[in-house]
Amino acid sequence: MNAIPALARVPDQVVSLADHEAHARTRLDENAWAYFSGGAADECTLNANRQAWDALQLLPRVLQPLAGGHTRVQLLGRTLAHPILLAPVAYQTLAHPDGELATAHAAAALGAGLVLSTQAGIPLETVARAVLPEAGRGPLWFQLYLQHDRGFTRELVQRVEAAGYEALVLTVDAPTSGARDRERRAGFRLPPGVRAVNLDGLPPAPAAALGADQSALFDGLLRHAPTWDDVTWLQAQTRLPVLLKGVLHEDDARQAARLGLDGVIVSNHGGRTLDTAPASAQVLPRISAAVQGDLPVLVDGGIRRGTDVLKAMALGASAVLLGRPYVYGLANAGAVGVAHVLRLLRDELEIAMALCGCRQLDQARQGLLYPAPL
Ligand code: FNR
Ligand code: LAC
Repeated sequence: MNAIPALARVPDQVVSLADHEAHARTRLDENAWAYFSGGAADECTLNANRQAWDALQLLPRVLQPLAGGHTRVQLLGRTLAHPILLAPVAYQTLAHPDGELATAHAAAALGAGLVLSTQAGIPLETVARAVLPEAGRGPLWFQLYLQHDRGFTRELVQRVEAAGYEALVLTVDAPTSGARDRERRAGFRLPPGVRAVNLDGLPPAPAAALGADQSALFDGLLRHAPTWDDVTWLQAQTRLPVLLKGVLHEDDARQAARLGLDGVIVSNHGGRTLDTAPASAQVLPRISAAVQGDLPVLVDGGIRRGTDVLKAMALGASAVLLGRPYVYGLANAGAVGVAHVLRLLRDELEIAMALCGCRQLDQARQGLLYPAPL
């Protein structure tokens, strides 16, 4: 009989997402730590994301009926076991050799949705094959960065559809990277063997012949930067629902609704793009109010506690996405670590709901927050 390989373990003292982060700090090298944990510039937005959830207070109701309570939500025509999805995070093979495959197994086992990054370290087909047969899995979505070569982008979308992904998440807040001081100080480089395998075969962008008074950014990289017209183009290329990720302005959310998009994700990219952009928790209520009922609003950035998830739902979110914490779980114990992170967050959500007198998440309204934000 073959021996069953021992599964990695999460140390007993790791009982929260913050503990996972602290433990991961001891397991990742400086290079990987700078990449995963860092934000842009002074990291004002990175820090504000966390502080904004903390600053919101929950005002509990007592003696409410709680029997039969649950965390189920409806999203894009499906019932999900709970409203927690894993956000797209690039290059997960830098955190653990099993990378996105381990993440996908854990997400499926815990009923969490998964958004695979364009810059994943594992082929998108391999991830889909691992997840799609799992009965209790959450939705499987693909995060798209429009590439300078639209023909390549179209073929990528066709691969995503053929592999069985259920929606596209078009990220629109990163036409260029932010000023990543932490990465530059650490001399960040992708080690050999870690690369965006799903972009293999992408022809290099033709070099721009820049005049003396031209900008390498605006006249170089950003010559191909997507605009709203490209969103319409993408909708015409695909039968999949399209969500926009990286929306902070109400008018952009309204525009998304007008164009018939299928959702917006309120996000500042985890504080990695524009530093001093507002915390996602701060703009969420305005965006929910602007597009109420027109399309689902999701949110990410700084979510670390079950109480944060409940607050997001009270501010009008249909679901939340989790970024760095699950990558720390992955670094700590592979798939077991990611599953542990999800389990902790879901358990905390149930506890928070029970203690607020909230039996199901459609009861989470602004009245749960003190003082009421809008
Ligand atoms: C990201 N994020 C991201 N977003 C995206 O649309 N495509 C991507 O490839 C990546 N890559 C990526 C790498 C790393 C290391 C991080 C930390 C983040 C942003 C991500 O989807 C999400 O918006 C934030 O991570 C959410 O914030 P928290 O939960 O990390 O605070
Ligand atoms: C990042 C890119 C890949 O945040 O979205 O690192």
